[in-house]
Amino acid sequence: MELVKIPAHVGIIMDGNGRWAEARGKKRSFGHREGSKMVDKIVTYAFKRGVRALTLYAFSSENWARPQEEVDALMDLLATYFKKFIKKVEKNNVKLVVVGGRDRLSDSLKKIIEDGERATKDNTEHILNIALNYGGRQEIVHAVNSLIKDGEEVTVDSISSRLYTAESGEPDLIIRTGGELRISNFLLYQSAYSELYFTDVLWPDFDEVELDKALESFSQRKRRFGKVTNA
Ligand code: FPP
Repeated sequence: MELVKIPAHVGIIMDGNGRWAEARGKKRSFGHREGSKMVDKIVTYAFKRGVRALTLYAFSSENWARPQEEVDALMDLLATYFKKFIKKVEKNNVKLVVVGGRDRLSDSLKKIIEDGERATKDNTEHILNIALNYGGRQEIVHAVNSLIKDGEEVTVDSISSRLYTAESGEPDLIIRTGGELRISNFLLYQSAYSELYFTDVLWPDFDEVELDKALESFSQRKRRFGKVTNA
Protein backbone atom coordinates (compact mmCIF):
# COMPACT_ATOMS: atom_id res chain seq x y z
CA MET A 1 0.00 0.00 0.00
CA GLU A 2 1.36 3.43 -0.97
CA LEU A 3 0.91 5.93 1.82
CA VAL A 4 1.09 9.67 1.33
CA LYS A 5 2.43 10.38 4.81
CA ILE A 6 4.09 8.15 7.37
CA PRO A 7 3.94 9.31 10.99
CA ALA A 8 7.42 9.84 12.43
CA HIS A 9 6.34 8.93 15.94
CA VAL A 10 3.50 6.55 16.80
CA GLY A 11 2.20 5.89 20.32
CA ILE A 12 0.18 2.73 21.00
CA ILE A 13 -2.13 1.90 23.90
CA MET A 14 -2.13 -1.88 23.65
CA ASP A 15 -5.49 -2.72 25.20
CA GLY A 16 -7.58 -5.88 25.16
CA ASN A 17 -5.19 -8.69 26.15
CA GLY A 18 -7.35 -9.71 29.11
CA ARG A 19 -10.58 -9.87 27.12
CA TRP A 20 -8.84 -11.74 24.31
CA ALA A 21 -7.75 -14.45 26.76
CA GLU A 22 -11.05 -14.58 28.65
CA ALA A 23 -12.92 -15.07 25.36
CA ARG A 24 -10.84 -18.23 24.93
CA GLY A 25 -11.38 -19.45 28.49
CA LYS A 26 -7.76 -18.69 29.41
CA LYS A 27 -6.08 -16.65 32.11
CA ARG A 28 -5.45 -12.96 31.48
CA SER A 29 -1.70 -13.58 31.58
CA PHE A 30 -2.10 -15.80 28.51
CA GLY A 31 -3.45 -12.75 26.68
CA HIS A 32 -0.46 -10.70 27.75
CA ARG A 33 1.86 -13.40 26.42
CA GLU A 34 0.10 -13.40 23.07
CA GLY A 35 0.16 -9.60 23.21
CA SER A 36 3.92 -9.58 23.66
CA LYS A 37 4.30 -11.70 20.50
CA MET A 38 2.36 -9.02 18.67
CA VAL A 39 4.71 -6.38 20.09
CA ASP A 40 7.58 -8.10 18.27
CA LYS A 41 5.70 -8.17 14.98
CA ILE A 42 4.37 -4.62 15.15
CA VAL A 43 7.69 -3.08 16.19
CA THR A 44 9.46 -4.76 13.25
CA TYR A 45 6.73 -3.86 10.80
CA ALA A 46 6.28 -0.23 11.91
CA PHE A 47 10.00 0.43 11.57
CA LYS A 48 10.01 -1.28 8.18
CA ARG A 49 7.22 1.06 7.07
CA GLY A 50 9.35 4.06 7.97
CA VAL A 51 8.07 5.00 11.41
CA ARG A 52 11.05 6.50 13.25
CA ALA A 53 9.89 6.27 16.87
CA LEU A 54 7.36 4.08 18.65
CA THR A 55 6.06 4.51 22.18
CA LEU A 56 4.26 1.47 23.58
CA TYR A 57 2.17 1.63 26.75
CA ALA A 58 3.19 -1.59 28.48
CA PHE A 59 2.33 -0.89 32.11
CA SER A 60 0.69 2.18 33.60
CA SER A 61 1.34 3.61 37.05
CA GLU A 62 -2.21 2.46 37.87
CA ASN A 63 -1.65 -1.16 36.73
CA TRP A 64 0.01 -2.06 40.08
CA ALA A 65 -3.53 -2.40 41.44
CA ARG A 66 -4.09 -5.53 39.33
CA PRO A 67 -3.85 -8.99 40.97
CA GLN A 68 -0.27 -9.77 41.95
CA GLU A 69 -0.19 -12.81 39.66
CA GLU A 70 -1.00 -10.62 36.65
CA VAL A 71 1.53 -7.94 37.66
CA ASP A 72 4.22 -10.63 38.03
CA ALA A 73 3.34 -12.12 34.64
CA LEU A 74 3.64 -8.71 32.97
CA MET A 75 6.99 -7.98 34.66
CA ASP A 76 8.30 -11.38 33.52
CA LEU A 77 7.18 -10.73 29.95
CA LEU A 78 8.86 -7.35 29.96
CA ALA A 79 12.11 -8.78 31.34
CA THR A 80 12.06 -11.48 28.64
CA TYR A 81 11.35 -8.91 25.97
CA PHE A 82 14.22 -6.63 27.03
CA LYS A 83 16.65 -9.56 27.23
CA LYS A 84 15.70 -10.66 23.73
CA PHE A 85 16.04 -7.09 22.54
CA ILE A 86 19.59 -6.86 23.87
CA LYS A 87 20.53 -10.08 22.05
CA LYS A 88 19.28 -8.70 18.72
CA VAL A 89 21.02 -5.39 19.19
CA GLU A 90 23.81 -6.10 16.71
CA LYS A 91 21.29 -6.65 13.94
CA ASN A 92 19.21 -3.52 14.23
CA ASN A 93 19.77 0.16 14.81
CA VAL A 94 17.09 0.78 17.43
CA LYS A 95 17.60 2.76 20.61
CA LEU A 96 15.64 1.38 23.56
CA VAL A 97 14.28 3.91 26.06
CA VAL A 98 12.18 2.82 29.02
CA VAL A 99 9.96 5.68 30.12
CA GLY A 100 8.32 5.98 33.53
CA GLY A 101 9.36 5.83 37.18
CA ARG A 102 11.92 3.16 38.04
CA ASP A 103 11.30 3.29 41.82
CA ARG A 104 8.82 0.41 42.01
CA LEU A 105 10.63 -1.94 39.64
CA SER A 106 12.60 -4.91 40.95
CA ASP A 107 16.39 -4.61 41.06
CA SER A 108 16.76 -7.37 38.48
CA LEU A 109 14.38 -5.67 36.04
CA LYS A 110 16.11 -2.32 36.58
CA LYS A 111 19.44 -3.96 35.75
CA ILE A 112 18.06 -5.53 32.55
CA ILE A 113 16.64 -2.15 31.50
CA GLU A 114 19.93 -0.39 32.20
CA ASP A 115 21.81 -3.03 30.18
CA GLY A 116 19.36 -2.61 27.28
CA GLU A 117 19.56 1.16 27.30
CA ARG A 118 23.34 1.14 27.55
CA ALA A 119 23.73 -1.37 24.72
CA THR A 120 21.53 0.68 22.38
CA LYS A 121 22.27 4.25 23.40
CA ASP A 122 24.24 5.09 20.25
CA ASN A 123 21.70 3.59 17.85
CA THR A 124 20.30 6.25 15.58
CA GLU A 125 17.76 4.91 13.11
CA HIS A 126 14.79 4.22 15.39
CA ILE A 127 13.69 4.78 18.96
CA LEU A 128 11.58 2.30 20.87
CA ASN A 129 10.09 3.86 23.99
CA ILE A 130 8.51 1.35 26.35
CA ALA A 131 6.23 3.05 28.87
CA LEU A 132 6.53 1.09 32.09
CA ASN A 133 5.20 2.29 35.43
CA TYR A 134 4.26 5.30 33.34
CA GLY A 135 1.67 8.00 33.89
CA GLY A 136 1.34 11.16 31.79
CA ARG A 137 0.50 13.40 34.74
CA GLN A 138 3.43 12.02 36.73
CA GLU A 139 5.70 12.65 33.74
CA ILE A 140 4.66 16.32 33.61
CA VAL A 141 5.23 16.71 37.37
CA HIS A 142 8.64 15.05 37.00
CA ALA A 143 9.58 17.38 34.12
CA VAL A 144 8.51 20.55 35.96
CA ASN A 145 10.28 19.49 39.17
CA SER A 146 13.48 18.82 37.27
CA LEU A 147 13.33 22.34 35.79
CA ILE A 148 12.70 23.90 39.21
CA LYS A 149 15.58 21.89 40.69
CA ASP A 150 17.91 23.25 37.99
CA GLY A 151 16.60 26.80 38.46
CA GLU A 152 15.26 26.94 34.90
CA GLU A 153 12.23 28.80 33.69
CA VAL A 154 9.10 26.70 33.23
CA THR A 155 7.85 27.20 29.67
CA VAL A 156 6.01 25.08 27.11
CA ASP A 157 9.30 24.25 25.40
CA SER A 158 11.34 23.69 28.55
CA ILE A 159 8.75 21.20 29.83
CA SER A 160 8.83 19.41 26.44
CA SER A 161 12.60 19.13 26.66
CA ARG A 162 12.39 17.33 30.02
CA LEU A 163 9.75 14.76 29.07
CA TYR A 164 10.90 11.15 28.97
CA THR A 165 10.16 10.97 25.24
CA ALA A 166 11.90 14.28 24.37
CA GLU A 167 14.21 12.68 21.84
CA SER A 168 11.33 11.14 19.89
CA GLY A 169 9.38 14.39 19.49
CA GLU A 170 5.62 14.49 19.84
CA PRO A 171 3.57 11.52 18.62
CA ASP A 172 1.97 12.21 15.25
CA LEU A 173 -0.42 9.34 15.73
CA ILE A 174 -1.76 7.58 18.82
CA ILE A 175 -3.46 4.22 18.35
CA ARG A 176 -5.65 2.58 20.96
CA THR A 177 -6.77 -0.99 20.47
CA GLY A 178 -9.50 -2.76 22.44
CA GLY A 179 -12.49 -0.50 21.84
CA GLU A 180 -12.21 2.06 24.63
CA LEU A 181 -12.30 5.71 23.58
CA ARG A 182 -9.94 7.34 26.05
CA ILE A 183 -6.30 8.28 26.56
CA SER A 184 -5.81 6.79 30.05
CA ASN A 185 -2.95 9.03 31.18
CA PHE A 186 -0.80 8.25 28.11
CA LEU A 187 1.53 10.94 26.68
CA LEU A 188 -0.77 13.71 27.95
CA TYR A 189 1.55 16.64 27.29
CA GLN A 190 2.94 15.34 24.00
CA SER A 191 -0.44 14.47 22.49
CA ALA A 192 -1.77 18.04 22.21
CA TYR A 193 -1.87 17.77 18.40
CA SER A 194 -1.64 14.01 17.87
CA GLU A 195 -4.05 12.32 15.51
CA LEU A 196 -6.03 9.64 17.33
CA TYR A 197 -7.00 6.23 15.95
CA PHE A 198 -9.30 3.92 17.89
CA THR A 199 -10.10 0.37 16.90
CA ASP A 200 -12.20 -2.39 18.46
CA VAL A 201 -9.53 -4.95 17.51
CA LEU A 202 -8.00 -6.45 20.67
CA TRP A 203 -4.22 -6.07 20.96
CA PRO A 204 -3.30 -9.76 20.34
CA ASP A 205 -5.19 -9.50 17.01
CA PHE A 206 -3.65 -6.17 16.00
CA ASP A 207 -1.40 -7.42 13.20
CA GLU A 208 0.39 -5.81 10.26
CA VAL A 209 -2.87 -5.45 8.30
CA GLU A 210 -4.43 -3.55 11.21
CA LEU A 211 -1.40 -1.29 11.54
CA ASP A 212 -1.65 -0.54 7.85
CA LYS A 213 -5.27 0.54 8.38
CA ALA A 214 -4.16 2.96 11.08
CA LEU A 215 -1.36 4.33 8.87
CA GLU A 216 -3.78 4.69 5.98
CA SER A 217 -6.19 6.62 8.21
CA PHE A 218 -3.35 8.89 9.38
CA SER A 219 -2.28 9.43 5.80
CA GLN A 220 -5.66 10.95 5.00
CA ARG A 221 -5.81 13.32 7.97
CA LYS A 222 -5.46 17.06 7.44
CA ARG A 223 -3.30 18.35 10.25
CA ARG A 224 -3.62 22.04 10.99
CA PHE A 225 -2.07 22.37 14.45
CA GLY A 226 -4.65 25.02 15.36
CA LYS A 227 -3.96 27.04 12.22
CA VAL A 228 -6.08 27.50 9.10
CA THR A 229 -3.75 26.11 6.45
CA ASN A 230 -2.93 22.40 6.10
CA ALA A 231 0.38 21.01 7.31
C1 FPP B 1 -4.01 -3.90 28.42
O1 FPP B 1 -4.85 -5.01 28.27
C2 FPP B 1 -2.64 -4.29 28.31
C3 FPP B 1 -1.72 -4.17 29.30
C4 FPP B 1 -2.04 -3.62 30.63
C5 FPP B 1 -0.35 -4.62 29.12
C6 FPP B 1 0.25 -4.53 27.74
C7 FPP B 1 1.36 -5.50 27.69
C8 FPP B 1 1.72 -6.28 26.65
C9 FPP B 1 1.13 -6.15 25.33
C10 FPP B 1 2.75 -7.36 26.80
C11 FPP B 1 4.07 -6.97 27.30
C12 FPP B 1 4.66 -5.77 26.65
C13 FPP B 1 5.86 -5.73 26.00
C14 FPP B 1 6.39 -4.41 25.53
C15 FPP B 1 6.68 -6.91 25.75
P1 FPP B 1 -5.86 -5.34 29.42
O2 FPP B 1 -5.23 -6.32 30.33
O3 FPP B 1 -6.31 -4.08 30.10
O4 FPP B 1 -7.02 -5.99 28.62
P2 FPP B 1 -8.57 -5.88 28.91
O5 FPP B 1 -8.96 -4.45 28.71
O6 FPP B 1 -9.15 -6.77 27.89
O7 FPP B 1 -8.80 -6.36 30.31
